[in-house]
Amino acid sequence: IKRITTHQLQEMKNRGEKIAMLTAYDYSMAKLIDGAGIDVILVGDSASNVMAGHETTLPITLDQMIYHAASVVRAVKRALVVVDLPFGTYQGSSGEALRSSIRIMKEAGAHAVKLEGGSEVKDSVERILSAGIPVMGHLGLTPQSIYKFGTYSVRAKEEAEAMKLIEDAQLLESCGCFGIVLEKIPASLAGKVSTSVHIPIIGIGAGPDVDGQVLVMQDMLGITQEFKPRFLRRYADLSSIVAGAVGKYVSDVKAKDFPNQEEKY
Ligand code: KIV
Ligand code: NA
Repeated sequence: IKRITTHQLQEMKNRGEKIAMLTAYDYSMAKLIDGAGIDVILVGDSASNVMAGHETTLPITLDQMIYHAASVVRAVKRALVVVDLPFGTYQGSSGEALRSSIRIMKEAGAHAVKLEGGSEVKDSVERILSAGIPVMGHLGLTPQSIYKFGTYSVRAKEEAEAMKLIEDAQLLESCGCFGIVLEKIPASLAGKVSTSVHIPIIGIGAGPDVDGQVLVMQDMLGITQEFKPRFLRRYADLSSIVAGAVGKYVSDVKAKDFPNQEEKY
């Protein structure tokens, strides 16, 4: 199987083929979604919420991200594996950003890193890119800044914030980023960003006029139940499948129906 590269993502945008991206944090699920044809796998810092049960993405550490990323990389044969730089590992200095990215590339075997922000992280982006590490941007709703914004509501509805977002996207492109995630912004603005830059724009809650889509896998599979934003389409209801299977197992064990004669040595 031929591996997806950042260059192929660019070609996909150029020919109008949409890019399909999902998150994964572990070997088993990464293997399933890679086999099912996903183009890009994001080892998101949403692992902090989905895997560890934290309220925000802030607590997850670089070591923990590397553990998740290494597990995913071992499973993947085709998809491009992008790994989030967690909060506090790239904002302090561009040197720290580079060191954190090198650890992700070396210890996990990742193919690229992603970080949140525009002009604020310009030096870090440039420094990481100077080492030959592909960088993906992330603008709009940036969950690592939740305590600055206060809510997870739609971003860049005001003209000033929308203007800064377009400028940031152009800045990230000029730095050399291979793509940008746009999270929870008006669809019209996302479409405008996608035509204002040449690199692929991947949306989540950013409407259809972008170059690809990303969702948190556990959300689209219906494993997480509480999270119901408008942009989330559920492709399965795994929580009820798991509840049904486990309920049946429990009753079979209680009823001494499992294991049966064929299921023993
Ligand atoms: O961490 C994550 O899952 C993300 C996506 C929502 C883009 O950054
Ligand atoms: Na993230």
